Amino acid sequence: ALSKLTVDDAMEPSAPSVSLGSVKAQVAALFGEALKRGFPEEAPSPQVAACNNPKFGDYQCNNAMSLFAKVKGKGEFKNPRAVGEAIQKALPESPMVASTSIAGPGFVNLKLSTEWMEQRLLNVLKDGMATWAPLLPYKRVVVDFSSPNIAKEMHVGHLRSTIIGDSIARMIEYTGVDVLRRNHVGDWGTQFGMLIQYLFDEAGGADALTDIEHKIGDLQVFYKASKKRFDEDPDFKERSQQAVVKLQSGDPVHRKAWEKICDISRKEFEAVYQRLDVKLEERGESFYNPHIPAVLKMLDDKGLTTISDGATCIFFPGQKDPLMVRKSDGGYNYASTDMTAMWYRLNEEKADWVIYVTDVGQSNHFKSVFKAAQMAGWIPEESKDKDALPPTPRVDHVGFGLVLGDDGKRFRTRSSEVVRLVDLLDEAKLRCKQQMVERGREEDFGAEETEHAAAAVGYGAVKYADLQQNRLTNYTFSFDRMLELKGNTAVYLLYALARIFAIIRKSGKSIDDLKQTARIELAHEKELQLGLHLLRFSEVVEQAIIELSPNGVCEFLYDLSEKFNEFYAECRVVNSPEESSRLLLCAVTAEVMQQGFKLLGIQPLQRL
Ligand code: ARG
Repeated sequence: ALSKLTVDDAMEPSAPSVSLGSVKAQVAALFGEALKRGFPEEAPSPQVAACNNPKFGDYQCNNAMSLFAKVKGKGEFKNPRAVGEAIQKALPESPMVASTSIAGPGFVNLKLSTEWMEQRLLNVLKDGMATWAPLLPYKRVVVDFSSPNIAKEMHVGHLRSTIIGDSIARMIEYTGVDVLRRNHVGDWGTQFGMLIQYLFDEAGGADALTDIEHKIGDLQVFYKASKKRFDEDPDFKERSQQAVVKLQSGDPVHRKAWEKICDISRKEFEAVYQRLDVKLEERGESFYNPHIPAVLKMLDDKGLTTISDGATCIFFPGQKDPLMVRKSDGGYNYASTDMTAMWYRLNEEKADWVIYVTDVGQSNHFKSVFKAAQMAGWIPEESKDKDALPPTPRVDHVGFGLVLGDDGKRFRTRSSEVVRLVDLLDEAKLRCKQQMVERGREEDFGAEETEHAAAAVGYGAVKYADLQQNRLTNYTFSFDRMLELKGNTAVYLLYALARIFAIIRKSGKSIDDLKQTARIELAHEKELQLGLHLLRFSEVVEQAIIELSPNGVCEFLYDLSEKFNEFYAECRVVNSPEESSRLLLCAVTAEVMQQGFKLLGIQPLQRL
């Protein structure tokens, strides 16, 4: 019974925090209670932050200053500090708290009880990392990510979307919320008319549908050739456009050709997902096609659409460019599909949060789609209260910057051709394998484990190099940098974890036994610092979910490895009088690191 607080407390309208899972959220709940008791009329939501200076405390409540502005007319309080003191006095008893103090103009600082910390650290070994998951007020979340286009190139932008989207999905899954991982592949564009017509022209006749894989060969080469003819030959262009009409009206031959082309693309995508261990459910644009007319009718009925130059558009106040939802030729486009997909997800799939992961180049598109959905009454207006969570159902666009090459330009291979993602990933793995062979690991590990480890490190390095960035900035892709053994890389962190496992192995003790018989004692300063950092894991994940950016988790892991090194440099573990407690602390560190890796989609290794 570490905490008597329940999930219901977290859902109080006054609670700004998304969860009681994290220590920070529990502290916030305590201060929320204090504010309710001390200031029943105002009862503001608690503003709680980690202390920058550990001298003052571990967490602080920052409400006093803004609260003073509201209560000062009432005479009781002379200054913000007096408000702070009142908050401090109203704080409920809790086993979490060792002491509180007032600093500066009225910050209320709180120090965690060491005993409580020790208990919580031990408990996570007994009960598992799931007990540290943040709690989110959502039931079902759609994450729309990766989403390459059939027949076109799957490029590094799609790689970023795949890596970032997967990590966001993993973080939300960790909280226990149902996540629908959706691959919104572009499988319904006008490009299919051209591809099918080219196929029929080149390998036409009765056997057009047999052995298509062979006839198409490399789909990207095939795409380029058909595009060339489309641009150069007006007659071909005409026939391609007719082919689209035939496809969309369900002609079986065209339909079959389309299916085959999609299958070829799918195999290429799968090769990437399989390497990255990313699970996705394909729900391409074509899936939503049958629902488009009804959705457009709803928008028409609400009076949101205007015909402009023959096209159906939604105009927004104060914005020049409308959202075009039906082309002048009556055909549907990217926006028709996105409006329909959003409607489907909210109404048919009952999602209360929909997240779209694409490059920032699409942010205007999504802004318009979201605005249109608000006007249609599908989603609420944004709330004015910045401390509160956005009202549901909620939609977010998670944008990211470009991947650059060493030359500072868009990432390409030497031949300035597109980068094939499978080749890129294979190269990362190969380089790791070479590293391992050079370090003589293959002899110890054998071929199979080396192969496995090289994949984990190589793919992990590519992911980590991406995820550690602020997603909005462009980042420079460099194998040399991401595979460095020292510094903030996945390689370094995976070694750090393997070293912890080695320490535990060397002791010859069983953590399963120790966690039942021994306790954790945070006696040394470095033990305390490591312990506190470990306890912050939940709030870091919580914050990463709020910001929809996994880079905070990367930063946390890197700091954790440093904190662990400091601890290990000063505190002997094996064969010391404190061996049991310290081994348990090593084990918690390993658990937290593994969970962190899991959230980033990186596979941890027992040895390296
Ligand atoms: N296929 C698009 C592209 O490659 C991304 C789709 C993103 N998802 C969406 N619902 N629009 O740019």
